[in-house]
Amino acid sequence: MPMKKRIAICPGSFDPITKGHLNIIQRASQLFDEVIVLVMVNPSKSNTAFTGAERVELARRVTKDLPNVTVDYFSGLLAEYASKVGACTLIKGLRAVSDFEYEFQMALTNKKLCPTLETMFMTTDLQYMYLSSSMVREVARFGGDISEFVCPEILADIQQRLSK
Ligand code: PNS
Repeated sequence: MPMKKRIAICPGSFDPITKGHLNIIQRASQLFDEVIVLVMVNPSKSNTAFTGAERVELARRVTKDLPNVTVDYFSGLLAEYASKVGACTLIKGLRAVSDFEYEFQMALTNKKLCPTLETMFMTTDLQYMYLSSSMVREVARFGGDISEFVCPEILADIQQRLSK
């Protein structure tokens, strides 16, 4: 009998995708057969700087060299999408203890909605502990250098878009 593919989802707002996100995605891609970077709607961040289509496009550009990684968009429940594609695991990056309470609550909610779905937390690489999409947006809006924070292939587009 053929082995069932192990599919993981890296969900998030990705507004925009950062080097910290990519680091988690790369590491997840070494652990699973397939990784889906899922651009989603976070109801508490409804006013995104980039549209869903833009966030998907930026994520596709930075993950293009990872053969088992795809990018998708979904505006519904994460647990529903995971069941639909047969994903076994959600991967979340944890930067600090402050991330934990919210992530823990989401993990338990997702488990309640889809009992076969596990959430795995990966610790962010030390060099990206401070990094967040909101920090990238703020630095870019004030004309600061964000080259340390986002991948070179999307740097100019993000800078141009946010400095307007
Ligand atoms: O990058 P973010 O904003 O921390 O990601 C949060 C996200 C988008 C993964 C979360 O808001 C989410 O899962 N949204 C989809 C709606 C959903 O399934 N909510 C129930 C889980 S608590």
